[in-house]
Amino acid sequence: MKETIRTLIPEEKLEERIAELAAQISRDYEGKSVHLICVLKGSIFFTASLAKRMTVPVTIDCMDVSSYGSGTESSGIVRMVKDLDEPIEGKDVIVVEDIIDTGHTLEYLLGNLQARGPKSVRLCTMLDKPSRRVVDVKVDYTGFEIPDEFIVGYGLDYDEKYRALPYIGILHLEEEGGHEEGDWESE
Ligand code: IMP
Ligand code: MG
Repeated sequence: MKETIRTLIPEEKLEERIAELAAQISRDYEGKSVHLICVLKGSIFFTASLAKRMTVPVTIDCMDVSSYGSGTESSGIVRMVKDLDEPIEGKDVIVVEDIIDTGHTLEYLLGNLQARGPKSVRLCTMLDKPSRRVVDVKVDYTGFEIPDEFIVGYGLDYDEKYRALPYIGILHLEEEGGHEEGDWESE
């Protein structure tokens, strides 16, 4: 299987947009501290880039969730793989996601976090595939809305590959003797 990647969002455009989001969040939270929750592993690059550009005080914690999918569809069954290190009670929390697809992961995450008594919870995603949404989730900050393609780079992987690309690309899989779009399982 031959894997090729076509650039969708070049590095400069991505970093420029993240700087805009950081400025907007910093304005919205002026006079407060923001507790960022990085959803592993896809959001590590986005969280780092966002956090270092914010002008309000920032703390960071990480959590990892996994959703089982069959074929190209995520099943909606999500489980926690790694919990946060610190309580979030009384904190202004922003969940930082790499991409929102069906919305199952976010629905689980937001429900789980709300139950811990944070002062507020907002959602910031680098990428959004609105055409794929199954569960309605309210997104407060979005980097880019993208078409229904399989994305890699800037934290996003295909079989753990391509996470470290500094840009966002569309992955194409080609088989000898035929052409096939990527079949994939959500994490
Ligand atoms: P959801 O629960 O369907 O919204 O799935 C969200 C998760 O699926 C993301 O956090 C990613 O880990 C993964 N995912 C969804 N779309 C893509 C993609 O295009 N490339 C890589 N991972 C993806
Ligand atoms: Mg993810």
